Amino acid sequence: MTIQLETRRLILRDYTLDDWPAVNAYTSDPQVVQYLSFGPTTPEQTREHLQRSIAAAAKQPRSLYELAVVLRSEQRLIGTATLQMDHRERRQAYFSYLFHRDYWRQGYATEAMRCLIDFGFTQLHLHRIADDCDARNHASARVMEKLGMRREGHRRETIWKDGRWHDEYLYAILTHEWATPKPDAQ
Ligand SMILES: CC(C)(COP(=O)(O)OP(=O)(O)OC[C@H]1O[C@@H](n2cnc3c(N)ncnc32)[C@H](O)[C@@H]1OP(=O)(O)O)[C@@H](O)C(=O)NCCC(=O)NCCS
Repeated sequence: MTIQLETRRLILRDYTLDDWPAVNAYTSDPQVVQYLSFGPTTPEQTREHLQRSIAAAAKQPRSLYELAVVLRSEQRLIGTATLQMDHRERRQAYFSYLFHRDYWRQGYATEAMRCLIDFGFTQLHLHRIADDCDARNHASARVMEKLGMRREGHRRETIWKDGRWHDEYLYAILTHEWATPKPDAQ
Protein backbone atom coordinates (compact mmCIF):
# COMPACT_ATOMS: atom_id res chain seq x y z
CA MET A 1 0.00 0.00 0.00
CA THR A 2 1.48 3.36 -1.01
CA ILE A 3 0.98 6.30 1.30
CA GLN A 4 -0.19 9.78 0.45
CA LEU A 5 -1.19 12.12 3.27
CA GLU A 6 -2.37 15.69 2.75
CA THR A 7 -2.38 18.84 4.85
CA ARG A 8 -3.39 22.38 3.92
CA ARG A 9 -0.02 23.19 2.31
CA LEU A 10 1.77 19.86 2.06
CA ILE A 11 1.65 16.37 0.61
CA LEU A 12 3.48 13.55 2.39
CA ARG A 13 4.10 10.63 0.05
CA ASP A 14 6.35 7.62 -0.47
CA TYR A 15 9.69 8.27 -2.11
CA THR A 16 10.56 7.37 -5.69
CA LEU A 17 14.17 6.97 -6.85
CA ASP A 18 13.80 10.13 -8.95
CA ASP A 19 13.57 12.11 -5.71
CA TRP A 20 17.29 11.81 -4.94
CA PRO A 21 18.45 15.23 -6.28
CA ALA A 22 15.76 17.06 -4.29
CA VAL A 23 16.62 15.09 -1.14
CA ASN A 24 20.35 15.51 -1.60
CA ALA A 25 19.85 19.28 -1.91
CA TYR A 26 19.17 19.38 1.87
CA THR A 27 20.95 16.28 3.20
CA SER A 28 24.21 17.59 1.66
CA ASP A 29 23.81 20.94 3.48
CA PRO A 30 26.12 20.99 6.57
CA GLN A 31 23.75 23.33 8.40
CA VAL A 32 20.78 20.97 7.92
CA VAL A 33 22.68 17.93 9.24
CA GLN A 34 24.52 19.84 11.99
CA TYR A 35 22.68 17.98 14.77
CA LEU A 36 22.00 14.73 12.92
CA SER A 37 23.88 11.43 13.03
CA PHE A 38 24.59 11.34 9.29
CA GLY A 39 25.80 13.58 6.48
CA PRO A 40 26.53 15.83 4.79
CA THR A 41 25.72 13.29 2.08
CA THR A 42 27.09 12.69 -1.40
CA PRO A 43 24.69 12.07 -4.31
CA GLU A 44 25.71 8.39 -4.27
CA GLN A 45 24.92 8.03 -0.54
CA THR A 46 21.52 9.66 -1.09
CA ARG A 47 20.67 7.36 -4.01
CA GLU A 48 21.63 4.33 -1.91
CA HIS A 49 19.63 5.61 1.04
CA LEU A 50 16.52 6.08 -1.11
CA GLN A 51 16.93 2.56 -2.53
CA ARG A 52 17.05 1.13 1.01
CA SER A 53 14.12 3.26 2.12
CA ILE A 54 11.96 2.21 -0.87
CA ALA A 55 12.84 -1.46 -0.24
CA ALA A 56 11.93 -1.09 3.45
CA ALA A 57 8.62 0.56 2.53
CA ALA A 58 7.67 -2.49 0.46
CA LYS A 59 8.18 -4.93 3.37
CA GLN A 60 5.19 -6.49 5.09
CA PRO A 61 4.41 -5.78 7.81
CA ARG A 62 5.66 -2.29 7.10
CA SER A 63 7.62 -0.62 9.88
CA LEU A 64 9.25 2.33 8.08
CA TYR A 65 7.30 5.30 6.76
CA GLU A 66 9.97 7.64 5.45
CA LEU A 67 7.96 10.14 3.43
CA ALA A 68 8.81 12.94 1.02
CA VAL A 69 7.22 16.24 2.00
CA VAL A 70 6.06 18.15 -1.08
CA LEU A 71 4.99 21.80 -0.99
CA ARG A 72 1.71 21.84 -2.93
CA SER A 73 2.01 25.44 -4.19
CA GLU A 74 5.41 24.79 -5.83
CA GLN A 75 5.11 21.04 -6.39
CA ARG A 76 8.57 20.89 -4.82
CA LEU A 77 10.00 18.27 -2.47
CA ILE A 78 11.19 20.32 0.53
CA GLY A 79 11.76 17.78 3.30
CA THR A 80 11.51 14.35 4.86
CA ALA A 81 9.13 13.16 7.57
CA THR A 82 9.74 9.70 9.03
CA LEU A 83 7.88 7.37 11.32
CA GLN A 84 9.78 4.24 12.30
CA MET A 85 8.08 1.48 14.26
CA ASP A 86 10.22 0.55 17.20
CA HIS A 87 8.29 -2.08 19.19
CA ARG A 88 5.40 -3.29 17.01
CA GLU A 89 3.87 -5.41 19.78
CA ARG A 90 4.02 -2.45 22.17
CA ARG A 91 2.74 -0.03 19.45
CA GLN A 92 5.65 2.38 19.80
CA ALA A 93 7.41 4.45 17.13
CA TYR A 94 10.09 7.09 16.70
CA PHE A 95 9.81 9.93 14.25
CA SER A 96 12.24 12.35 12.65
CA TYR A 97 12.19 15.23 10.19
CA LEU A 98 14.44 17.48 8.19
CA PHE A 99 13.73 20.27 5.76
CA HIS A 100 15.53 22.29 3.09
CA ARG A 101 16.93 25.44 4.70
CA ASP A 102 15.05 27.75 2.28
CA TYR A 103 11.80 26.53 3.87
CA TRP A 104 12.61 26.79 7.57
CA ARG A 105 10.54 28.87 10.03
CA GLN A 106 7.33 28.76 8.00
CA GLY A 107 5.60 26.12 10.09
CA TYR A 108 6.13 23.29 7.58
CA ALA A 109 7.82 20.86 10.00
CA THR A 110 5.06 21.31 12.56
CA GLU A 111 2.36 20.88 9.90
CA ALA A 112 3.99 17.76 8.42
CA MET A 113 4.67 16.07 11.75
CA ARG A 114 1.19 16.85 13.07
CA CYS A 115 -0.14 14.96 10.05
CA LEU A 116 2.27 12.05 10.52
CA ILE A 117 1.52 11.74 14.25
CA ASP A 118 -2.17 11.72 13.42
CA PHE A 119 -1.56 8.96 10.86
CA GLY A 120 0.44 6.99 13.45
CA PHE A 121 -2.25 7.16 16.10
CA THR A 122 -5.36 6.83 13.94
CA GLN A 123 -4.23 4.55 11.09
CA LEU A 124 -1.38 2.54 12.64
CA HIS A 125 -3.01 2.51 16.10
CA LEU A 126 0.24 3.41 17.82
CA HIS A 127 0.23 4.01 21.54
CA ARG A 128 3.34 6.16 21.83
CA ILE A 129 5.49 8.28 19.46
CA ALA A 130 8.85 9.64 20.58
CA ASP A 131 11.91 11.44 19.30
CA ASP A 132 15.35 12.38 20.60
CA CYS A 133 17.05 15.61 19.72
CA ASP A 134 20.41 17.15 20.39
CA ALA A 135 19.87 19.57 23.27
CA ARG A 136 21.42 22.37 21.16
CA ASN A 137 18.76 21.89 18.48
CA HIS A 138 16.34 24.54 19.72
CA ALA A 139 14.26 24.55 16.52
CA SER A 140 13.58 20.83 16.79
CA ALA A 141 12.73 21.03 20.49
CA ARG A 142 10.35 23.87 19.70
CA VAL A 143 8.63 21.86 16.95
CA MET A 144 8.02 19.00 19.40
CA GLU A 145 6.69 21.37 22.04
CA LYS A 146 4.31 22.92 19.49
CA LEU A 147 3.14 19.39 18.68
CA GLY A 148 2.16 18.95 22.32
CA MET A 149 4.91 16.44 23.07
CA ARG A 150 6.29 16.19 26.57
CA ARG A 151 10.00 16.43 27.37
CA GLU A 152 10.51 13.19 29.28
CA GLY A 153 14.22 13.12 29.59
CA HIS A 154 17.52 14.90 29.42
CA ARG A 155 20.25 12.39 28.71
CA ARG A 156 23.68 13.68 29.49
CA GLU A 157 26.53 13.30 27.00
CA THR A 158 25.01 10.66 24.76
CA ILE A 159 26.12 12.24 21.46
CA TRP A 160 29.76 12.37 20.35
CA LYS A 161 30.11 14.95 17.61
CA ASP A 162 32.82 17.36 16.46
CA GLY A 163 35.25 16.13 19.08
CA ARG A 164 33.08 16.51 22.16
CA TRP A 165 30.06 15.13 24.02
CA HIS A 166 26.60 16.65 23.77
CA ASP A 167 23.37 16.16 25.71
CA GLU A 168 20.12 14.94 24.23
CA TYR A 169 16.44 15.51 25.00
CA LEU A 170 13.78 12.83 24.73
CA TYR A 171 10.25 13.92 23.76
CA ALA A 172 7.14 11.75 23.50
CA ILE A 173 3.37 11.84 23.11
CA LEU A 174 0.76 9.18 23.91
CA THR A 175 -2.34 8.41 21.92
CA HIS A 176 -4.78 9.69 24.56
CA GLU A 177 -2.89 13.00 24.70
CA TRP A 178 -3.48 13.38 20.96
CA ALA A 179 -7.26 13.06 21.19
CA THR A 180 -8.13 16.74 20.55
CA PRO A 181 -8.50 17.58 16.81
CA LYS A 182 -5.81 19.95 15.48
CA PRO A 183 -6.80 22.68 12.97
CA ASP A 184 -3.75 22.19 10.66
CA ALA A 185 -4.15 18.42 10.32
CA GLN A 186 -6.59 18.53 7.39
C1 LIG B 1 14.07 21.38 12.93
C2 LIG B 1 13.44 21.78 11.60
C3 LIG B 1 12.87 20.57 10.90
C4 LIG B 1 12.30 22.79 11.88
O1 LIG B 1 11.65 23.05 10.64
P1 LIG B 1 10.71 24.33 10.44
O2 LIG B 1 9.85 24.05 9.26
O3 LIG B 1 11.54 25.55 10.45
O4 LIG B 1 9.84 24.26 11.77
P2 LIG B 1 8.56 25.16 12.12
O5 LIG B 1 8.57 26.39 11.27
O6 LIG B 1 7.35 24.29 12.08
O7 LIG B 1 8.81 25.53 13.65
C5 LIG B 1 10.08 25.94 14.07
C6 LIG B 1 9.97 26.58 15.45
O8 LIG B 1 11.27 26.65 15.99
C7 LIG B 1 11.61 28.00 16.20
N1 LIG B 1 13.03 28.12 15.94
C8 LIG B 1 13.65 27.99 14.76
N2 LIG B 1 14.97 28.17 14.92
C9 LIG B 1 15.17 28.37 16.24
C10 LIG B 1 16.30 28.61 17.05
N3 LIG B 1 17.52 28.65 16.51
N4 LIG B 1 16.13 28.80 18.37
C11 LIG B 1 14.90 28.75 18.93
N5 LIG B 1 13.76 28.51 18.21
C12 LIG B 1 13.92 28.34 16.89
C13 LIG B 1 10.74 28.80 15.26
O9 LIG B 1 10.61 30.14 15.66
C14 LIG B 1 9.45 28.01 15.35
O10 LIG B 1 8.74 28.26 16.55
P3 LIG B 1 7.53 29.34 16.60
O11 LIG B 1 6.50 28.85 15.60
O12 LIG B 1 7.05 29.29 18.02
O13 LIG B 1 8.09 30.66 16.19
C15 LIG B 1 14.46 22.47 10.65
O14 LIG B 1 15.09 23.49 11.37
C16 LIG B 1 15.50 21.48 10.13
O15 LIG B 1 15.30 20.85 9.09
N6 LIG B 1 16.63 21.36 10.87
C17 LIG B 1 17.68 20.43 10.47
C18 LIG B 1 17.29 18.97 10.68
C19 LIG B 1 16.93 18.68 12.13
O16 LIG B 1 17.56 19.20 13.04
N7 LIG B 1 15.90 17.85 12.32
C20 LIG B 1 15.42 17.46 13.63
C21 LIG B 1 16.20 16.32 14.15
S1 LIG B 1 15.76 15.92 15.83
